Amino acid sequence: MSKWMLCIIAVLSGCSTGVAGGKDILVADFEGKGYGDWKVTGEAFGPGPARGTLSGQMEVSGYQGKALVNTYFEGDETTGTLTSPTFEIQRKYINFLIGGGMHPGGACINLLIDGKIVRTATGPNDQPGGTERLDWRSWDVADLAGKTAKIQIVDKQKGGWGHINIDQIVQSSEKKKLVVVVEEQETSRQFVVRKRYLNLPVKNGARKRIFRLIVDGKVVRDFDIALAEDEPDFWVVLDVGEFKGKEVTLKADSLAADSKGFKSIVQADSIKDSKDLYREKLRPQFHFTSQRGWNNDSNGLVFYKGEWHLFYQHNPYGWPWGNMTWGHAVSKDLVHWEELGDAIHPDKLGTIFSGSAAVDEGNTAGFQTGDEKVIVCFYTSAGGRNPESRGQPFTQSIAYSNDRGRTWTTYKNNPVIGHIRGGNRDPKVIWHEPTKQWVMVLYIEQGVMAFFTSQDLKKWERHSEIKCYHECPELFELAVDGDKNNKKWILYGGSGDYLVGQFDGKEFKKETESIRFQRGNCFYASQTFNNVPKEDGRRIQIAWGRVAMTGMPFNQQMLFPVELTLRTTDEGIRMFAEPVREIESIHGKKRAFKAKTIKPGENLLSGIKGDLFHILAEFSPGDAGEFGFVIRGTPVVYRVEKKQLSCKGKTADLKVSHGKIRLEILIDRTTIEIFGNDGRVYMPIGGILPDDNRTLDLFTKDGNITIDSLEIYELRSAWK
Ligand code: FRU
Repeated sequence: MSKWMLCIIAVLSGCSTGVAGGKDILVADFEGKGYGDWKVTGEAFGPGPARGTLSGQMEVSGYQGKALVNTYFEGDETTGTLTSPTFEIQRKYINFLIGGGMHPGGACINLLIDGKIVRTATGPNDQPGGTERLDWRSWDVADLAGKTAKIQIVDKQKGGWGHINIDQIVQSSEKKKLVVVVEEQETSRQFVVRKRYLNLPVKNGARKRIFRLIVDGKVVRDFDIALAEDEPDFWVVLDVGEFKGKEVTLKADSLAADSKGFKSIVQADSIKDSKDLYREKLRPQFHFTSQRGWNNDSNGLVFYKGEWHLFYQHNPYGWPWGNMTWGHAVSKDLVHWEELGDAIHPDKLGTIFSGSAAVDEGNTAGFQTGDEKVIVCFYTSAGGRNPESRGQPFTQSIAYSNDRGRTWTTYKNNPVIGHIRGGNRDPKVIWHEPTKQWVMVLYIEQGVMAFFTSQDLKKWERHSEIKCYHECPELFELAVDGDKNNKKWILYGGSGDYLVGQFDGKEFKKETESIRFQRGNCFYASQTFNNVPKEDGRRIQIAWGRVAMTGMPFNQQMLFPVELTLRTTDEGIRMFAEPVREIESIHGKKRAFKAKTIKPGENLLSGIKGDLFHILAEFSPGDAGEFGFVIRGTPVVYRVEKKQLSCKGKTADLKVSHGKIRLEILIDRTTIEIFGNDGRVYMPIGGILPDDNRTLDLFTKDGNITIDSLEIYELRSAWK
């Protein structure tokens, strides 16, 4: 890479030909909410022009205004077309900004006359695969002057770089091109690592820079970061602990020669400006959040020697999604978590997307070097998602640890499963005892999951597919009503909705249609723990809680761990979810009430104030029309006649059971998790609760309500 790089902006240049002079005629700038009178087919174009980078995409730049056409909607697998109304060709050139994949005919923009393609262009060909930076392209259309034409943007390409970015289509008498206005420099610094962290300043929304850390001539980290040039919003850390004593080079792709942001990067053993760590205003107090940066899916949930391991999709260097890395934390009780630092980092095969972990009890992979059993992680190498993996597809890889998850080695012959189709991802691996082999369920694309088996975790054989759910598969067995002789298999995807059926180690045979799992507003991409000891025997799930932590140095959270059980109901077999009993470890002051009748207008809880609670309540609805709680201003309501539980616009059917309605509620600063009738209804609700309201209210309307029992525990923070 050259030492000097160019920061470029688009301006008009070139010469007028006189063939068709005059002002520019705008064909489309894609600044509206929808596509107006352009015709859309398929899904790739989303509901309207994209506001820049889409979820899961590398940073899109070079477009004008706030929006553009970006067919990465829901990833590379979606396809479609976008066609303009007819217009007359009145200038010598049609100019447009273009980026995305280089797939002639597959992901392209076409000029149509009488339905025939007369000009076509595709994503840039100066980068392997494509680039997300839009650049000007021009068609000379002098010979077509006066003709009636249409523009059609096409995305029928799936898989790596199967998308196109278009903006600012303009008829003009001149070619538009890029001219240099500012020179920026590839900036680097060499130093000996003395401390655990490099602190880097972040400003949300600042232009993203690409950084590389080079050790012994090898790129060991590459990531993008919205580097703050002035006052940072917060500091993030690049963990360099494992390189202590070595001379390393930190390089940024392009920065002003005297970048203040780059100069401010500093070594330290702690995170700069973190004196309020875990006491920040919106920091959940008994839900896992990452100290810094973004988290999404829970990954690699596994129990080993007294520790619950939680890995997670982590952007260590920013507030939004990106730089997917496996963060890692451990807990002895599922409530108090200790972050161990990131376990698996992006490499030449890709960033590290979701997956699972298992203890290789029998050393089937042969990775064991000492007395400890090996923990093996299975993840997707998301090729093309970091600069070092340009051009690589999505494949499945493994990494392992011989020291209880403290250090990790990526397997030298990765990937263990090559690219199958589309964005194939999210391997969940389990040990299948009846056939004594490993089983993997993998999300392929468009709702299809595939099953694989292996003897040694390295060679995998594919057996069957089932069309069911999107992303993040889970597969496990549960006893029906606790009966060990009557077990059923559960298969679910990102939403948590599930199938009940049989699984023989190779094929899943469903016995039900899809069943809704949860009824909240923030649940996604959950997973359950592997290797839970037999004496415990619980099936414990942790989901990603989608809550935006505005103004915080971290973003998103995990939901509280729940125990899953299968029970017979009058609607058939259903999966129930209840918070794990370990919540008791942070119980504080208790208030208990028994056999009390409440009238409309009374509030039994007027003396209680706080922000962290565990509520356990049993009601006899009696003649009440509706009753429930108001939690810091948010009502949780049971409507007796409708037999419905609701909160923040979410509702769930819940019948009175043996004359009772039981509600269990966990309240943290950004979530209200509601469990109706022992987990028959699971409704996790995310949202920031108002600062100025710390009250609880128990109400009834249109009649009295009898409380059979009510326990309210204040909760202590799980953070020290
Ligand atoms: C689900 C998901 C997974 C993917 C991961 C990337 O939220 O899209 O399918 O592996 O997130 O962060």
